[in-house]
Amino acid sequence: MRKNMLLLTISFLLAITSAGCAYRYYLGLHGPSKNTFPDTHTEDITRDAQCLDCHAPENASGATPVTSHPSFTGCLKCHNDPV
Ligand code: HEC
Ligand code: HEC
Repeated sequence: MRKNMLLLTISFLLAITSAGCAYRYYLGLHGPSKNTFPDTHTEDITRDAQCLDCHAPENASGATPVTSHPSFTGCLKCHNDPV
């Protein structure tokens, strides 16, 4: 019984912590697509460096969402889903 409670607590804690942080990116989850805003994201924007010019924490301003994962490579792998 006591062992079951321990297991339950551990899985509960794991579930909470992994929901809020970067681990779930590694599970292959896709982010919101850049194609939601085709006027902002024109077709000539394809390289990570271009994305980071607007989305890196030190560059983003105003309504531009900041990325929590500026060190990732291949932004389009996860942010290029058709909308
Ligand atoms: C392995 C997949 C993956 C890669 C690679 C990736 N992202 Fe993300 N990104 C996500 C996921 C999933 C979310 C949504 C979860 C969140 O916001 O915490 C997200 C969220 C974002 C957001 C916030 C969107 C919003 O509406 O707040 C921005 C901006 C962003 N990513 C930019 C980038 C940039 C720039 C790169 C390349 C340097 C990049 N991402 C690479 C998976 C990825
Ligand atoms: C010229 C600046 C600029 C560049 C370059 C840029 N973005 Fe954005 N991005 C924005 C702005 C501004 C928004 C907020 C939406 C809007 O107002 O168009 C946004 C929104 C987003 C979102 C959130 C979409 C949503 O539905 O919440 C993601 C994800 C994103 N960009 C990813 C990228 C990726 C990946 C690249 C590189 C291929 C990129 N952006 C290049 C300015 C830029």
